[in-house]
Amino acid sequence: CPTNCVCTQERSCSILCDRAGLTQIPSEFPCEAYSINLDKNSIKFLAERAFGTLPSLKSLSLSHNNISFITPGAFKGLASLVELKMAHNEYIRYLHTRTFISLKRLVRLDLADCNLFNIPDRIFIELPALQELFCFQNNFRRIPGAIRGMENLTHVYLEKNRIEAVAYNSLLGLTRLKYLNLQDNRINVIHDRAFQDCQKLEYLYLNDNFISDLPDNSFDGLRHLKMLNIGGNLLRNVSNTWFRDQFELEVLYLDRNQIINIQEGAFENLTSLVSLHLNSNNLTTLPFSVFQPVYFLGRLYLFRNPWECDCRIEWLKEWMENYRLVRDIPCASPSSVAGLDLTDVYFERTSEGFCLDPEELNVTSDSPFPTGELQSTTENKFNSLISKFLLQKGLSEEVVNTTESFINTTLLDGLTNEASLGLGTCNIKLICSVNLWLFIIAQHLSTGPLVKRFEDP
Ligand SMILES: *[C@@H]1O[C@H](CO)[C@@H](O)[C@H](O)[C@H]1NC(C)=O
Ligand SMILES: *[C@@H]1O[C@H](CO)[C@@H](O)[C@H](O)[C@H]1NC(C)=O
Ligand SMILES: *[C@@H]1O[C@H](CO)[C@@H](O)[C@H](O)[C@H]1NC(C)=O
Ligand SMILES: *[C@@H]1O[C@H](CO)[C@@H](O)[C@H](O)[C@H]1NC(C)=O
Ligand SMILES: *[C@@H]1O[C@H](CO)[C@@H](O)[C@H](O)[C@H]1NC(C)=O
Ligand SMILES: *[C@@H]1O[C@H](CO)[C@@H](O)[C@H](O)[C@H]1NC(C)=O
Ligand SMILES: *[C@@H]1O[C@H](CO)[C@@H](O)[C@H](O)[C@H]1NC(C)=O
Ligand SMILES: *[C@@H]1O[C@H](CO)[C@@H](O)[C@H](O)[C@H]1NC(C)=O
Repeated sequence: CPTNCVCTQERSCSILCDRAGLTQIPSEFPCEAYSINLDKNSIKFLAERAFGTLPSLKSLSLSHNNISFITPGAFKGLASLVELKMAHNEYIRYLHTRTFISLKRLVRLDLADCNLFNIPDRIFIELPALQELFCFQNNFRRIPGAIRGMENLTHVYLEKNRIEAVAYNSLLGLTRLKYLNLQDNRINVIHDRAFQDCQKLEYLYLNDNFISDLPDNSFDGLRHLKMLNIGGNLLRNVSNTWFRDQFELEVLYLDRNQIINIQEGAFENLTSLVSLHLNSNNLTTLPFSVFQPVYFLGRLYLFRNPWECDCRIEWLKEWMENYRLVRDIPCASPSSVAGLDLTDVYFERTSEGFCLDPEELNVTSDSPFPTGELQSTTENKFNSLISKFLLQKGLSEEVVNTTESFINTTLLDGLTNEASLGLGTCNIKLICSVNLWLFIIAQHLSTGPLVKRFEDP
């Protein structure tokens, strides 16, 4: 066993040399070594055949070192290696084409956070077994050409780079790819049929990029997609051609875009959908026809949109009430209902039973709360609803802080109608963001003592 290391004597011999203060690779390892951990040392350099010949070695980890040069052929002699981890070596920057030669069994390669700007196109040519490639948090400006034609790749992690496009040929030949993460890049162009070879794709992350439009046929042929995240982009229109093949899609994120328009039938073929995220967009209305035919009984996230709560979305109110799968739809207009949640909007009817839109009040002259108990301009009404509510419960206004990320799926998913999310349990700043408050207030308005004050000022 090398000095400063611990070697287990079990059937599979593990060599633990992590945090051992090593500045170079120990000169010898036990020949039967099965795994070697050299994490968190200060190793700078890997010579050719740096580990000698270790025919049983399956796993080698060199993460969190200070490797700045890897001699081509450094891993020769490790014919059985399945997993190689070199993440967080921020001085690597550049890799030679022959760096990984002879790793014929390598399945998993981790090069995350290595400050790589590119990798040679032919660097993986002798890694026929490679399935999982971790390259997130580097400086790639394009999807590395090296992955093209890697038919055995199943997982590719490229998030947090500076990739600008998904070109028609970026992903050619990736016929077994199941998971592709491109989130947090600078993608502003996706070419026609860019994903066409990836017909096995199940998880696709394109969120937090600069995508303002997608080709009509972007996701054609991706019939096994289960999760698609295009949140946090610059989309304005959702086309009814985008999701025509996604019969197995379960979760679709379109949140944090600037969507103003969703074409009729856009979600028509999403027959497996269980959750649809449309929150934080610019939607004012949502035609019922968007959801036709009516099979969709999943969760629908619609908060943070400037909803116009008129008769066009009365169906949504009924849906909310019937299925309890939608909630938190704060109305921005008409002014008589601005600040209320759609659940609390009462739609008047004509004697023939037709729905009547709530009034557009001229708020400067015609106050909906003439007693002056509440300030009644559109914006103030909302704030005042919250502050009144908080004051009554003895909480200060500063609790109302809004940070988008706190309102996430997990949080809302856990928030059932029955859950006691009254202020008693909700006293942590982080949990109580405006959307939650709205939801809670809507709940209390319909059940609690406040309801009298607002309806009968
Ligand atoms: C890591 O390597 C770089 C360049 O090789 C050097 O400038 C830096 O001081 C090293 N850092 C440590 C902690 O050894
Ligand atoms: C994929 O794996 C198979 C079986 O291990 C192998 O024969 C084939 O050459 C691999 N493909 C590539 C492109 O390396
Ligand atoms: C979005 O849709 C609107 C109305 O349907 C149309 O006028 C506009 O050109 C579309 N914008 C884009 C970027 O497709
Ligand atoms: C839904 O799928 C069917 C069958 O593949 C197709 O004919 C139809 O055009 C799709 N709908 C939309 C809106 O694309
Ligand atoms: C969406 O709303 C935001 C903020 O209200 C605004 O800055 C942006 O211009 C709007 N986008 C569109 C397409 O209306
Ligand atoms: C609202 O009232 C102001 C002042 O009385 C008036 O100038 C304005 O035209 C009114 N707006 C509407 C939409 O009625
Ligand atoms: C809300 O949170 C931000 C960041 O934590 C802070 O800077 C700001 O002062 C807070 N606002 C209020 C009203 O507490
Ligand atoms: C979402 O909420 C969960 C649990 O509350 C938390 O672990 C996670 O970090 C949150 N995600 C974001 C993006 O805030």
